[in-house]
Amino acid sequence: MNTHPLLAAAISAAVASIAACGGDSLDNSSTGQAALVAQGQQIFRFDTFGDETQWTDKLRLHETISTKVDPTTALSVGLKVDAEALPPAVVQGIQNKTISLTDPATTVALIKLNAVVGIKGTVESVNGKDTLTRVGVTCALCHSTVDNSFAPGIGKRPDGWPNLQLTPGPSLPCRRR
Ligand code: HEC
Repeated sequence: MNTHPLLAAAISAAVASIAACGGDSLDNSSTGQAALVAQGQQIFRFDTFGDETQWTDKLRLHETISTKVDPTTALSVGLKVDAEALPPAVVQGIQNKTISLTDPATTVALIKLNAVVGIKGTVESVNGKDTLTRVGVTCALCHSTVDNSFAPGIGKRPDGWPNLQLTPGPSLPCRRR
């Protein structure tokens, strides 16, 4: 059996939380089911299972993102933006181009809004500037995409669809667009 290690973690976390709430596991009401589904969606979209130790502490990905990864670059390597997480002012700013898509600070702002699918970051104010201090990835990074309804790479997210455009190394010959 080849269980995905992250899946195994998700299952044990789910089992632990059901066990912890006792009676909840017997709740077959539609409200109870809906609550479980909502909780699962939150975990799938936003839980990193603590992988910041890898992405932040070891690989210092937060520094690379803050200095090098503007939204145009992020979209070009297949990252997706959840249009429904964007407040109207940001939508307008992207449309009328007052928000720069070639400035890494915009990526940090999008991460702060939880709008970059599968990327979970902590953004703190350092010397008055929003700074990405920790970053991790969630199941949604690889198992979610968007419907491109706003722009290529930006749209509503259907959970559970594979992201077929993610390109870990843009120089690889197999790059897909
Ligand atoms: C870095 C990308 C990535 C992340 C993040 C990721 N997965 Fe996967 N996952 C994959 C890939 C790629 C496959 C397909 C592997 C294959 O078919 O050989 C896969 C396969 C799976 C499968 C199918 C396993 C099977 O045997 O058919 C499940 C279920 C799954 N992942 C759940 C999850 C869950 C839950 C999370 C979050 C806790 C997660 N994955 C996070 C890339 C990822």
